[in-house]
Amino acid sequence: MLADRFGRSIDYLRVSVTDRCDLRCSYCLPKGFKDFEEPAHWLTHEEITRVVAAFARLGTRRVRLTGGEPLLRRDITGLVRTLSALPGLDDLSMTTNGTQLTRLAGPLRQAGLGRLNVSLDSLRQDCMATITGRDCLDKVTAGLEAARMAGFTRIKINMVPLAGVNDGDIEAMVAFCIAQGFVLRLIEAMPMGSTGQASRGLDLQTVLADLTKRFGLVKATETLGGGPARYWQTPDGGFTLGLITPLSQHFCATCNRVRLSVDGTLYLCLGQEAAYPLGPLLRAGASDAELEAAIREAIEYKPERHHFNEAPTRVMRFMSMTGG
Ligand code: GTP
Ligand code: 5AD
Ligand code: SF4
Repeated sequence: MLADRFGRSIDYLRVSVTDRCDLRCSYCLPKGFKDFEEPAHWLTHEEITRVVAAFARLGTRRVRLTGGEPLLRRDITGLVRTLSALPGLDDLSMTTNGTQLTRLAGPLRQAGLGRLNVSLDSLRQDCMATITGRDCLDKVTAGLEAARMAGFTRIKINMVPLAGVNDGDIEAMVAFCIAQGFVLRLIEAMPMGSTGQASRGLDLQTVLADLTKRFGLVKATETLGGGPARYWQTPDGGFTLGLITPLSQHFCATCNRVRLSVDGTLYLCLGQEAAYPLGPLLRAGASDAELEAAIREAIEYKPERHHFNEAPTRVMRFMSMTGG
């Protein structure tokens, strides 16, 4: 098992399979940001698989595929099929913006993908267009329907409430998730990259107090997935709410994860620059033992916590590089 200097077990690897995206969410990328052509230094499917297999041998049990938008990666279904067959992993999941799910939900399920988290910030077409820069609401809701039909259960909806933009949409999102059987997760916007976004994320402690009053929420009996969310539910268990509160109540003491970007860099904390390049090692023909030793060494550099609250320590990379 991998453990860091602070005694935390690291058993969750997030793998960004592309930093490209078909949307331009205001909290993630700057307006007009141009995707780069797929560069030669991007990890191939085989290289990604080698790194994931090495992590699995070192005790990693959960792998989440992210982007950018992971469904834009060529033959993502093939990659999922390969990763799902690796020994040792018992949780293979993906975070997606949902725009490609009508086409891919079925094949992904068949290839062995276990769980899906889907970003959806509003059910109003104009508001979704304002936040994502594209008119994508219908595609995403159709994608969600396709995911349900394909057999995905406990699908999580990720919503980043922004003051004066979609903070009035939370109730409608709750109603939608109750009707569809989705878990709703509210996320505090983190200051990553210089996206030019003017609107503030919400402090979710106030939102939680409001929703608790309205729906009689109680602490959930089960934890869903391996992430930092804390969960509440209605007493009948018909609705589950997750809160991800990096700013109002950070969860770094229990952090269990590191991130692999598509250029082979291992990022050791979402809110810090600490990183370790695995790409050159892979390309230099490192053995499995050398790769494992490098991963162990990298974990030594994992910082204790982020400092999102202490401006001006904005991390320079955009969220799309590590997919959250
Ligand atoms: P589950 O396994 O389903 O719990 O997944 P998850 O919540 O870890 O993954 P997801 O990709 O859906 O992430 C939801 C939000 O949590 C995103 O905004 C991420 O940026 C944020 N997040 C995930 N891990 C961390 C973390 O270690 N630190 C911080 N600050 N935010 C995180
Ligand atoms: N702060 C918080 N969450 C973010 N996401 C993207 N950018 C940010 C940010 N700056 C969320 C998306 C997606 C998940 C991977 O990360 O909503 O669901
Ligand atoms: Fe794309 Fe996700 Fe970033 Fe939105 S948050 S621009 S969907 S990578």
